Amino acid sequence: MSQKSELASVGTLVQQKGNYKAFIPGRFPPKGLIYHDPKILSLLSKANLILGKLDGITRLLPDIDFFIFMYIKKESAYSSQIEGTKAKLTDALMAEIERTPELPPDVDDILHYITAMNAGLSRLEKLPLSLRLIKEIHQILLTQARGSAHPYPGEFRKVQNWIMGTSPGDARFVPPPAEFILPAMGDLEKFFYSNEEVPVLIKIALIHSQFETIHPFIDGNGRTGRLLITFYLCQQQILQRPVLYLSAYFKKHRDLYFTMLDEYRKGNIAGWLEFFLKGIIQVASEAIETSDKIIDLREKDLHCVSTLGRASKNAIVLLKNLYKLPIVNVRRVQDYTGISREAANRLVRKFVQLSLLHAMEKEKKYGRLFVYKEYISLFED
Ligand SMILES: Nc1ncnc2c1ncn2[C@@H]1O[C@H](COP(=O)(O)OP(=O)(O)OP(=O)(O)O)[C@@H](O)[C@H]1O
Ligand SMILES: [Mg+2]
Repeated sequence: MSQKSELASVGTLVQQKGNYKAFIPGRFPPKGLIYHDPKILSLLSKANLILGKLDGITRLLPDIDFFIFMYIKKESAYSSQIEGTKAKLTDALMAEIERTPELPPDVDDILHYITAMNAGLSRLEKLPLSLRLIKEIHQILLTQARGSAHPYPGEFRKVQNWIMGTSPGDARFVPPPAEFILPAMGDLEKFFYSNEEVPVLIKIALIHSQFETIHPFIDGNGRTGRLLITFYLCQQQILQRPVLYLSAYFKKHRDLYFTMLDEYRKGNIAGWLEFFLKGIIQVASEAIETSDKIIDLREKDLHCVSTLGRASKNAIVLLKNLYKLPIVNVRRVQDYTGISREAANRLVRKFVQLSLLHAMEKEKKYGRLFVYKEYISLFED
């Protein structure tokens, strides 16, 4: 942990009516921002190198879209799980095929996260990152998600909120009262495009911790703040495509994540930066490994189905589609290939024999579902 002398001032705790203290952010970026610590600089250069490698490798993927598609699903499953949503990746995939009451209701959170991510990324192709965009994304994220607990999707809060505990009095953290939100978010917005010579990864780390400190919405601040990371990485062209997602890291180290956000606020910016950069390094290394494995699997399985003689043409079509959505029913196989129901059934049976597809346990309304297990497992931990 940093010495007191190294602490920057991120803000102060101020007594409020009602016998609690709220955190009032100071100007942002904080004066005395230090990132020239040798440990931080070394992590920063490692993180930059590895992101370059990730960007390169994923560009070589024959189908980068399927990779992003799965990563966004994985990210959304994790991000929505941080606060206790239990839905799994496979549930989210099944929801693509059919909406059934058997799906856990919180799959909804994941689907909203995916929609919000895609909407944000496509808006960013034309527009800069702004408070307006952040509100739009929040609206998509929270409209109808998790029941009716979110009265103001897309709007900054007008009331006090708090993190953990039953009231501001016993909370772990009380973010600024509502009137401080606009000025604080204004500073944050300016920082997105300021010319200060702060390296992009340091900026992203600070944007996330500052956003969580302001906690501008009643709910959904964690998910919106994590989406911001991906948006900023792409907007700044650190990555050409959105292939880096930190939610798995934050979920794995949930307590430390929350503690380091506390530390940031107390002025231990170096501590937060170290935690964040380590996350980038870890997550990017894993994504590189996953890319390698996908490329190998695809090669192996394409080779496998290319030996199917007359059926191989349709088999290749099916396999390619499985990289986009690794769960199918016979109906979908017909859609992909244009073959008869009987032929589609045969093709699926062939895939099962080859262990490319596995029948899922339960019979569903629209026929049996089959899953490309080996592929999905590359995205699960
Ligand atoms: N001690 C803390 N200080 C500042 N921010 C924190 C702290 N602990 C947690 N957070 C942030 O607050 C988020 C929770 O806030 P909120 O409930 O508004 O977001 P959410 O998206 O609904 O939740 P979650 O991210 O848990 O799914 C956490 O994900 C984390 O990003
Ligand atoms: Mg919440």
